[in-house]
Amino acid sequence: MTQSRPLAWGRRYVMVRPDHFRIDYAINPYMDLAAQPDRRRAMAQWVGLVSTIEGLGATVEVVPQRADAPDMVYAMNLGLGVVRVDGSGPVKGHVVMSHMRYAERRMETLSAQPWFERSGRTTSYVGREGVGAHLEAGDVFAWRDALVAGFGPRTEELALKHLAGDLGVRVRGVRLTHPAMYHLDLAFCPLDDRRAMVAPGAFDAASAEALLELVPEPLVLTDAEALTTFCANSIVIGHTVVMPAGCPERVRSVLVGWGFEVVEVDVSEFHKGGGSVRCLTNPVDLTLGRDVPLVAGGEVVLPAFA
Ligand code: ARG
Repeated sequence: MTQSRPLAWGRRYVMVRPDHFRIDYAINPYMDLAAQPDRRRAMAQWVGLVSTIEGLGATVEVVPQRADAPDMVYAMNLGLGVVRVDGSGPVKGHVVMSHMRYAERRMETLSAQPWFERSGRTTSYVGREGVGAHLEAGDVFAWRDALVAGFGPRTEELALKHLAGDLGVRVRGVRLTHPAMYHLDLAFCPLDDRRAMVAPGAFDAASAEALLELVPEPLVLTDAEALTTFCANSIVIGHTVVMPAGCPERVRSVLVGWGFEVVEVDVSEFHKGGGSVRCLTNPVDLTLGRDVPLVAGGEVVLPAFA
């Protein structure tokens, strides 16, 4: 059997403290203005998630939530955090800010960008600030030789070109077509350098096939598993998978069989907004040239029949 190596990234997170979490509008099928989150329960669940992450040896930096941005708690969508390593020089954090599809979320990056700058990172937008192609960072993951980027419901295909060129990496695009799996992180979760959870039902046929070909050992999720438990929306810290509570027994036993420890965290209040563990956490330690190979000029690869 081929040895697999744990992910090198996923040990430093940015999260947004849910002081103003509400459902003010419905931009995905989970959101219902009549089903408001319980503010205190949500805060307790969020604090529980932070302490689970810190208990596993990872770090959390906290961004304050804007009062006018109820979805800002889904920190994964603020931007794509990377670390640039230049030869012998200093290691510098950079964030490619999201340009949200829906106007309801666009103000989030207006305060997240200065926050990232104050934290010592540089920031940029794909294309031109405010008018470039839509990019939502919950659509982008490092996987083996490239960034895998979901496009369709939120991120636009054009953003993939900018991202590849700006970072000098290969970007593999996959088209999301399922209305309830509107971000890649609801349907794809890298586990180590050979294994990942994949819900093929989220994608068009060519993209599903291309993604399954990229993953040597996929844990294939049914639509029901991905949709009812948000289990693909997990994070991985070394050999531990931090999952939303209620993970299907079948999924858990595959993970345990592969040697992972599964830790379940109840973040059910946040499911009302259409996001779970991964959406609430944004890894900022993805290192270019280590976790994603550099490719001169960048390159976009799309499935053959997309
Ligand atoms: N209400 C948010 C939206 O529709 C949920 C975002 C979920 N986040 C994620 N990374 N999938 O944009």
